[in-house]
Amino acid sequence: MAVRCFGEKDLQYLTEVIEKQDLWRGMGDDSFVSRFEDAFAKHLGRKYVLAVSSGTNAEEVALAALGLEPGDEVICPATAPIFVSMPVVSIGCIPIFADTDPKTLIITAETIEAAVTPKTKAVMVVHLNGVPAQMDEILAVAKKHNLMVLEDCAQAYDATYKGKKTGTMGDVMCASMQQSKHITSGEGGIVATDDPEIYKRAVMFHNVGMPWYRYGLEAPQAKPLGGLSTRGHFMFGHNFRMGELQGAVALAQLERIDEYNKVRAENVAIIEQELAGVEGLKLAHVYPDTVPNYWVYPIRVPKELGNYGETNYLEVVFQKMQKDRKTLVGVPLPDYVQYKPGICPVCEEASPYFSGLGCHPTQSADSIRESCEDAKKQVAEVLAKK
Ligand SMILES: Cc1ncc(COP(=O)(O)O)c(C=O)c1O
Repeated sequence: MAVRCFGEKDLQYLTEVIEKQDLWRGMGDDSFVSRFEDAFAKHLGRKYVLAVSSGTNAEEVALAALGLEPGDEVICPATAPIFVSMPVVSIGCIPIFADTDPKTLIITAETIEAAVTPKTKAVMVVHLNGVPAQMDEILAVAKKHNLMVLEDCAQAYDATYKGKKTGTMGDVMCASMQQSKHITSGEGGIVATDDPEIYKRAVMFHNVGMPWYRYGLEAPQAKPLGGLSTRGHFMFGHNFRMGELQGAVALAQLERIDEYNKVRAENVAIIEQELAGVEGLKLAHVYPDTVPNYWVYPIRVPKELGNYGETNYLEVVFQKMQKDRKTLVGVPLPDYVQYKPGICPVCEEASPYFSGLGCHPTQSADSIRESCEDAKKQVAEVLAKK
């Protein structure tokens, strides 16, 4: 049954923030942001969690935390929201687009391996639409080529691969808490890892270089220089901190995530029941040993009805880089780096057939049935014209 996204708990926590007269997180353990971090660490099963201001910022923080250098190459799925490849450019690295599985638009071990060069340092695995990627094969290829693995779980909270939650298998995980996601604080992001060094760099990068660590990790102190003290900015960074208003809502939302997941699953069950066996329409492809937790339910439809438009290298911004032979922050592109039609032929062929059906817990069963009816009608109309 549909639920309201926000309610009493959100209001109670927000009221507490206002009554405290402090909207800033600080770095103590008692802020809502810290409480959210601790609760999420427990929920996900990772040691260190850092809440940040958006999912895109979480990606940038995580990439910087991996210790990447300008000019390093990062493999990204060709078909993913551009929030995935943009942060690679922000930190001075070069996105290398890998082709994706035509059944899911998700990166695979084979497509990753085909994109590896001597400069490749990391791969971003996006569990697109809440469908877990085939992690064993991906982790094996990453190990073979010494690549660090970032799992983007913006669309995949609490999905599992061989019983492990998405976000617990790579070196670092990122998630988004933008309004449409499994939990939301309007805008918001999460970085999680088990590696204290990755966590420390993440904290510094999101905090303009200042090491305000939690989890009992010791922070260095800056020594006065030339007789003058400094504040202790140890690395380049941005201010991507999360504030208490977001933290309060994030915590309230996390406390309800099981309820939201349940309603999502009920909505998906309706979709799968309504659309099973419909001519001209394929249901989501799910890899063996995985349990998806759909963000949007992906269907494959006749090309005329497909609306997936997220082939990153075809975006105007990447076309400019292709023409200028440098990234937007001026990093030169080697000749073998190309952003032009044809570089990832499988996803170019497959993506026009993809469309998505909403399954958000605020959607009623009736509205889900209506969108299924609509999809069926549209597919039948297209087939009738053929
Ligand atoms: C797969 C994926 N990664 C990253 C992001 C970025 O998140 P945000 O919108 O919070 O910046 C999104 C957002 O839609 C996403 O879908």
